[in-house]
Amino acid sequence: DKLTDRLTIAQPDDWHLHVRTGSILHTVIAHTAKQFGRAIIMPNLKPPVTTVPQALAYRDEILAALPKDSSFEPLMTLYLTGNTSPEDVKKAAEAEHIHAFKLYPAGATTNSDAGVANLADAYPIFAAMEKLSVPLLIHGEVTNPEYDIFDREKIFIDTQLSSITREFPDLRIVVEHLTTQEAVQFVESAGSNVGATITPQHLLYNRNAILAGGLRPHFYCLPILKREQHRLALLQAAISGNPKFFLGTDSAPHPTHLKENACGCAGCYSAHAALELYAEAFEQAGALDKLEGFASFHGADFYGLPRNSQTITLAKQAWTVPSHYGDADNAITPLKAGEELSWQQIS
Ligand code: NCD
Ligand code: DOR
Ligand code: ZN
Ligand code: ZN
Repeated sequence: DKLTDRLTIAQPDDWHLHVRTGSILHTVIAHTAKQFGRAIIMPNLKPPVTTVPQALAYRDEILAALPKDSSFEPLMTLYLTGNTSPEDVKKAAEAEHIHAFKLYPAGATTNSDAGVANLADAYPIFAAMEKLSVPLLIHGEVTNPEYDIFDREKIFIDTQLSSITREFPDLRIVVEHLTTQEAVQFVESAGSNVGATITPQHLLYNRNAILAGGLRPHFYCLPILKREQHRLALLQAAISGNPKFFLGTDSAPHPTHLKENACGCAGCYSAHAALELYAEAFEQAGALDKLEGFASFHGADFYGLPRNSQTITLAKQAWTVPSHYGDADNAITPLKAGEELSWQQIS
């Protein structure tokens, strides 16, 4: 083999992942566990995961759904609500398996009804998190229906996030799933306590994928894909080697019939080929050598966790993505369903 046909990197982690519960969990978890050592598990279940005991029970459910020989480690998070107290932050900080709080502005996305309506109300919680060094993971979009959906991230940064970083300069923040050049600039100019995740779909596609030549619901996620100039800015950030930017797939499975629907759910399923999708984006940018830092080092360093000691290998070996995973009512349509991917994980 030519050297360029193989890519071996330290085992990566997924710093933003939805695995749901029940039958969907059983369909998706092996995909993530095959590639990643660890993943930050999102708490937006119905009802949301808001307490340490709930998160530990959810962790047990995930561990029980793993393939027998798997050493995959779910890193649990708690959903920040209007009822979260500074005492809850202390309990989370002391709990071994809890790694962060997730902030959804109320109404921003899937199962976010319990989210925080007025961010100023959460300032005492942010103060406790800053003091106890608990990371705050943010879905950064305003939710007021009067704002254009393509502007919601930028407006959140200007009107909310910039105030939070000013008031809490030492608060560890991950701005999740960046989608705009303004978000990239914000993260770049913030302190080293502010990092960000970037999804594969936001590196590979712009909004034409959803809207041009037909309506394609499997590209619909939140924050929504933006125009090409934003994709290019995200790609530059991902391949820059800047340790603030790291891998977070936001793989968000929904049954196909709820996406191919008059009111389709938001979320792209990417866990079946996460690394392969990122490899494609990095290769297109001529920066495969930057994939390991982004996928395997920057996130672990940000979260203060050891880097993984195993490795994984991708080969230039084309394969066709299945039309769906799972069956019946819970079948899931993956990103690039029925299309060819040039990279494939071989070990
Ligand atoms: C939109 C745009 O560029 O057209 N913004 C965006 O994609 N970030 C805003 C608009 O259409 O007004
Ligand atoms: O598209 C999305 N889907 N964005 C989110 O923030 C949530 C996710 C989900 O849970 O489905
Ligand atoms: Zn989100
Ligand atoms: Zn998400």
